[in-house]
Amino acid sequence: MKRLIVVSNRVTPGDESNASAGGLAVAMLAALKKRGGLWFGWNGEICQSRDTDPEVMKTGNLTFATIPLPEQDIELYYNGYANRSLWPLFHYRTDLTLFDHRFFESYLRVNSLFTAKLAPLLKEDNLIWVHDYHLIPMGQYLRDAGITQPMGFFLHTPFPAMEILLTLPNHEYIVKSLCAYDLVGFQSASDLRAFHDYIVHEAGGEILEDGVVRAFGRTLIARVFAISIDTKTIAQQSVRAAHTKAIDRLTESLDERVLVIGVDRLDYSKGLAQRFRAFERLLENYPENRNKVVFLQIAPPSRTDVPEYTDIRHELETLAGNINGHFAEFDWMPIRYLNKGYTMQRLAGFYRASRVGLVTPLRDGMNLVAKEFVAAQNPTDPGVLVLSRFAGAAQELGEALIVNPFDVDDLSDAMQRAITMPLEERRERWGAMMETLTKNDISTWRDNFLTELERAPATLEGG
Ligand code: F6P
Repeated sequence: MKRLIVVSNRVTPGDESNASAGGLAVAMLAALKKRGGLWFGWNGEICQSRDTDPEVMKTGNLTFATIPLPEQDIELYYNGYANRSLWPLFHYRTDLTLFDHRFFESYLRVNSLFTAKLAPLLKEDNLIWVHDYHLIPMGQYLRDAGITQPMGFFLHTPFPAMEILLTLPNHEYIVKSLCAYDLVGFQSASDLRAFHDYIVHEAGGEILEDGVVRAFGRTLIARVFAISIDTKTIAQQSVRAAHTKAIDRLTESLDERVLVIGVDRLDYSKGLAQRFRAFERLLENYPENRNKVVFLQIAPPSRTDVPEYTDIRHELETLAGNINGHFAEFDWMPIRYLNKGYTMQRLAGFYRASRVGLVTPLRDGMNLVAKEFVAAQNPTDPGVLVLSRFAGAAQELGEALIVNPFDVDDLSDAMQRAITMPLEERRERWGAMMETLTKNDISTWRDNFLTELERAPATLEGG
């Protein structure tokens, strides 16, 4: 088996307790734990000099090689181009997207630094797998450095519709850089469609059979690989968690009330303000829920140096305060709003104790919380998933209650339907979703991508 080299901006060296790290870090740790390999990326630290060698740490069959970044680049590349240009744009928030040529220069500088530090660690028989929007140019940089090993890229976010992407000043550079990889993976069919659209209508390229794409003088494969979770482990964790003191305390505190849960990084793409308003609407339109339902929203702060994240945090504090101030009773608080993260095991217990899971992003590549919520349910008395049609997960979990998260009335009606759904219907819907997640778990996702990547040189030669 070829040695796997994973590259991502964020690396989580064995720290599963950091739930605020988000989908990529959690998924890659699960994917790598079983197969082993090298994981290269930023260690979250600041450095003075760009000459620092990677710090190498080994645990079992997994090696972490991490580098710090200069403070100026953290500001311009991570807080800037990655999280104020690409992130809002890829999530269809052109109103929040900021362009600054210094952001882009720093983005290229960091991609070239990653390349320079990774290249000496590579061996002949490696498979290279680069992740996410922070590192799109790296493929071309590695090629320029003479790296000929098969190279794949996976985009964890949505790929925006062409008309949205065209507003990015460097759109051509970004898509051309994607085409330097042998294999490019997207979360869902709509992302792949958007990519094809750009290739054909903007780049004048071609879409051939078997996922083969020709553009910018390159031939590559572009396909959908829906990322998933370690379904079995999460199901087991939820059973274990159910017998812990924390879950006893949660259940006691509910005093027989129904629990509705949301778990999201504190990000404007997650639709939290609309969700809070929909919960308020639920209490207004269906008053039988007053003093009978508790909404637990866990939202660990994220990217706190980016101003748009401070804005959304203030907005949510105001909303939660207003709703609680209006509806609370001396013995009931409608919204429990927590700005902290929990371990997966604890979250699995919370999910299992909940009747309803709210996953209502305005736009999301996949959203693994949707999958985790399903995996953690009690098969004999499962909860109901309310899922945004704009999360990649909706393309697989069609048995959830699918909602338009922009429509607060639709959302509050779905909440009511979920709270009152008969057991038999809950079981049927959950059973179908669990079957999907058992078939497509994190190992299937990893193996499908890597099998295709190993085959890519032969496929492309024949193509
Ligand atoms: O693809 C987006 C992503 O990398 C996710 O995997 C994760 O949810 C989130 O962003 C983490 O963001 P950051 O590394 O900026 O904290």
